[in-house]
Amino acid sequence: MRKLLICLLFLPWFKNIAAAQGQKAISVGMNKVKLEFILDKEGRPAYTMQYDGKPVILKSLLGFTLNDNTALDKDFELTGTDKKQVDESWKPVWGEVSQIRNHYEQLTVHLKQTTAPNRLLNIVFRVFEDGVGFRYEFPQQKNLNYFVVSNELTEFSLTGNHKAFWIPGDYDSNEYTYTTSKLSEIDNQKLVNGSTDIAVRVAPDRYAVQTPLMLKSNDGLYINIHEAALVNYSSLQLHVDNSTYKLTASLVPDAVGNKAYLHAPDHTPWRTIIVSNKAADVLASKLILNLNEPSVIANTSWIKPMKFVGVWWEMQIGKSTWSYAKSTDTLDAKGQLIPSGLHGANTANVKRYIDFAAKNNIQGVLVEGWNVGWEDWFGFWKENVFDFVTPYPDFNVSEITSYAASKGVKMIMHNETSGSATNYERQLDTAFRFMNKFGYPSVKTGYVGKIIPRGEHHDGQWMVNHYVRVAQKAADHHVMLDAHEPVRPTGLQRTYPNWMASEAGRGNEYNAFTNTGNPPEHETIMPFTRLMGGPMDYTPGIFKLKGYSSNLERQVHTTLAKQLALYITMYSPLQMAADLPENYQAHPDAFQFIKDVAVDWDDTQVLEAEPGDYITIARKAKGTENWFIGSITDEHARETTVPLSFLTQGKKYEAIIYADANNADWKLNPEAYQISHKIVNSKTKLLLKLAPGGGSAISIKLLD
Ligand code: NOJ
Ligand code: CA
Repeated sequence: MRKLLICLLFLPWFKNIAAAQGQKAISVGMNKVKLEFILDKEGRPAYTMQYDGKPVILKSLLGFTLNDNTALDKDFELTGTDKKQVDESWKPVWGEVSQIRNHYEQLTVHLKQTTAPNRLLNIVFRVFEDGVGFRYEFPQQKNLNYFVVSNELTEFSLTGNHKAFWIPGDYDSNEYTYTTSKLSEIDNQKLVNGSTDIAVRVAPDRYAVQTPLMLKSNDGLYINIHEAALVNYSSLQLHVDNSTYKLTASLVPDAVGNKAYLHAPDHTPWRTIIVSNKAADVLASKLILNLNEPSVIANTSWIKPMKFVGVWWEMQIGKSTWSYAKSTDTLDAKGQLIPSGLHGANTANVKRYIDFAAKNNIQGVLVEGWNVGWEDWFGFWKENVFDFVTPYPDFNVSEITSYAASKGVKMIMHNETSGSATNYERQLDTAFRFMNKFGYPSVKTGYVGKIIPRGEHHDGQWMVNHYVRVAQKAADHHVMLDAHEPVRPTGLQRTYPNWMASEAGRGNEYNAFTNTGNPPEHETIMPFTRLMGGPMDYTPGIFKLKGYSSNLERQVHTTLAKQLALYITMYSPLQMAADLPENYQAHPDAFQFIKDVAVDWDDTQVLEAEPGDYITIARKAKGTENWFIGSITDEHARETTVPLSFLTQGKKYEAIIYADANNADWKLNPEAYQISHKIVNSKTKLLLKLAPGGGSAISIKLLD
């Protein structure tokens, strides 16, 4: 880590401020972003925020109520402030860029309640060029030791009836389609009630939305509200006041209704507000990562981004099953399960995927349904479902391990918990030892179903800590982690770089098992919402876009070229090539892009973006001079010109352009694509024509 400048200023005037009567205000600025801390006449802490002279957040209150019927919300006096400036840069283990600048001005306000028991509270604000992060700190003190938060009172008072891209504030699921509406129109009730394809839905407040919340104001500001470094606290949702446009923190409760159990000295996660007049800047922001702690893993040489295929989509589309037998009671005379003949995770089939991976520059193979328990794994809220170490009789783990090793392919473990986190925690050591013994460098976990401990939610403090415990345990065993159905990410991949991806959103799989699927605009919203906190295992790369299910209404709501573009626009260091080998073999020319595309980057340039409409991103593959571009659109056809000015001047490159065919259309003709080759340089401008629901993917290779 290179520290350019750190200076700490103890301000001599704070005592004067504290002594003065009436409202006090302290400002901090960084280029266009200005933050003002206010302590009003009632001693209530509050803040405002501006961007380029325009108000972003009007006076918004800060504080807490505690479950001992006290509150940390008013009667405060300012006992001190300190400020510091930081300008440093750091290198992520993997990422969208090879180096990240962390440049901010920090203001800490030290507050003390004037009424007994005179509790202390600090609020730390970090003001960046592209937004603000702030968190509460509870200093060690006599009258606040172990305590329980019943509500966080943080407000985000918006300036108008902005356009919002939102999903419901559900305590257990992020797997909704996005709604674009005015703030005044937010009401999640119909959507929650109608989303019967989501396993567990608990959204008691019809006016609550999930974060990251993406907003666009009438005066052209793009605003993103989320949180960073969510550890030992419950997840932040936002209650929307439909008439004043004030958002209020709404924390996910635990089984008895409490929001967080803390022990001073302690602190909350960071609340983040990213702002720009260009949507592309929101996607490029590193504010959330910068607010997370550096890696706690010293030796990271075993952490390696990769592409993988899997015995997976075939179950999603109903071609095979996770389970070995039809049901738990299909037993033979000896009491053994009678195989249904549909089990996907059988040794021969797994070897077929290993062969396919080995031939096609795909490093990993995921196998789901390999372990006993899938006959009644879901929906019974039962505690002991899987033991994570016992394979079905037709899955020969030793044979598969040595076969994969002989082909240079890595196996990816699957640990579905069906929501029983207690069972998983009991088995965790055994499960990771099993992975180490059989050479699995990576695990995909899953939390489908109601959580055990019963009454807890996927996004509450207990589970937030569970996911971190799993990431830590995985790191101890040198295992990389991809969590499905966890709380949505908040940049913790900086601290735990082995926690490489999460689902925590509506993945491509909804196109397989529901008729609604994901609408064509879905992937143009996700980077502005779910992906703001971290990489998503979206599982792109479906080539057979219709007719894959016996239910003919089902189709993927994109063109084939757009599926390729998603490898660039949906960032993840673990990227699945999700379709069946035979569907790739039917299009070897298009599959070449998936074989070539990188999963780790030295540089990323968001060339253009508008939430809900389009995104074009260029990325430079790590350690090379090669670039990849992905451009996607919503349901509307689109033409765009992409200047290749990021290429090194004076050098020649070969571009392979994977485009929608002229008559392509996500609904009627999704698999029509055309591939062209072109010699390009930094002066070239590429005209891309995207079909409705379409996209374009380009690989650009340096010619010597
Ligand atoms: C839901 C996950 O998102 C999916 O990828 C997985 O196949 C199933 N759960 C079963 O674990
Ligand atoms: Ca899922």
